[in-house]
Amino acid sequence: MDDYARAAHEAVDLLAGYVANSTSGVGPPTAQPDPGELAADLDLTTWIRNGGMDADAFAAWLPRYLDATVRLHHPGSLAHQVASPSTGAALADLVHGASNNPMAKYEMGAAGATIEREVVRWMLGKVGFDPDEAGGVLTHGGSLANLTALLAARAHVAPDAWRAGVPAGLALLAPRSVHYSIRRAAAILGLGEHAVIELEVDDLERIRPDRLGGALDRCRAAGKRPLALVATAPATSTGLHDDLESIGAFCADHDIWFHVDAAHGGSALLSPRHRDLLAGVERADSVVWDAHKLLRTSALCAAVLVGRASDLPAAFEQHADYLFDDHESVGFDLVDRALETTKATLGLKLFLSLAWEGERGLGEYVASRYELAVRFHEALQQEPGITCPYAPESNILCFRVDGHDQLELRDRILTEGRLHLSSTTIAGERYLRLVVTAPATDERTIDQLLETVRILTPVAH
Ligand SMILES: Cc1ncc(COP(=O)(O)O)c(C=O)c1O
Repeated sequence: MDDYARAAHEAVDLLAGYVANSTSGVGPPTAQPDPGELAADLDLTTWIRNGGMDADAFAAWLPRYLDATVRLHHPGSLAHQVASPSTGAALADLVHGASNNPMAKYEMGAAGATIEREVVRWMLGKVGFDPDEAGGVLTHGGSLANLTALLAARAHVAPDAWRAGVPAGLALLAPRSVHYSIRRAAAILGLGEHAVIELEVDDLERIRPDRLGGALDRCRAAGKRPLALVATAPATSTGLHDDLESIGAFCADHDIWFHVDAAHGGSALLSPRHRDLLAGVERADSVVWDAHKLLRTSALCAAVLVGRASDLPAAFEQHADYLFDDHESVGFDLVDRALETTKATLGLKLFLSLAWEGERGLGEYVASRYELAVRFHEALQQEPGITCPYAPESNILCFRVDGHDQLELRDRILTEGRLHLSSTTIAGERYLRLVVTAPATDERTIDQLLETVRILTPVAH
């Protein structure tokens, strides 16, 4: 392990420099080299064939790898919903990488399992569930978390589905704006994508609570019954929130499983100034909340949370003599409530992120990113030739530069090298999209964005 200690020290020094430089805006926020040239530059085939990397070779190779990464700590990193990991979270990956305790069985990682149980309890409390009644599990990502939650809904609505297969006539009520993992889940669960009955939305793609009755009538008229109704907090494209209070009340009145995909915005529950955006989330039967979006953990660390703890194990029935037996042993297992058997110690990332930043610190971080998005909006709105379709509610913001092809403009912004933006459509119209995530993004980044747009679109300005 001498080699490990030496190489790890080299890595930590290089990574600390990388984080510091990225945070100060050194280098471009994104690198998009040709994959063939990159594979050659990183000597991939040689290393794969011959092996033999040691601490010195690794120290020479790692900077070349880092050169071709997306720098998420960079102030100009505004593209995707990926965290700029906190120190604690980054250390969790180091610890997991060496200790490797896949702790879904307590016997296979008591510390990791205990931490997962505690952070899940903490999340349940934040959602407004009673931690003694409710339950949850961490999974590798929000997509898997959505699938897990809808599997629990399926077990609730069609308890025989596990053995007998999915009965005909189940429908999923969801707006067009739901994350694509929801449609995928419908297909994977055996309902088929066509089982998604689209809820009516307003012109910013938010569910219209006043039209839910109509959707339910359409569902029933088609001879179907709802498996679940899905609302989002907030929507991936716009960052706008569905009205969870009204939708939750509708679901309660009609006995429909209410699933809230709060993968992105669950973290706003930590900000006293923003938690009302999720008012009504406690009405949900299931909630998904990604820590790897705004709780500053690396990918992945997503939670599936259910109001009734038994709903998760009810979703799975499996026998595996090498894992399960009747013999009484210390601890508890998590394998009965997740799709994965072998899991990384996901809870450690969230725990160490919390341990470093504190619940209040993370709440302030979320608030600061949400409030900076408002500042971006104010500045963009005053700029001639720019259309902002709405004031942001979260750290996601869309705008378009009139008279330009937004995708082509995005390419030019990326090539210019100071900013990394994404793009989306709202009600069929293409927009540029910002996700204000890095703690280093500030007012100067707003100036840079305006300057970049002015330089690249001189006619409109
Ligand atoms: C609302 C929402 N749900 C689910 C997901 C999927 O999460 P993951 O990328 O962790 O699978 C995303 C990701 O962007 C999201 O925005």
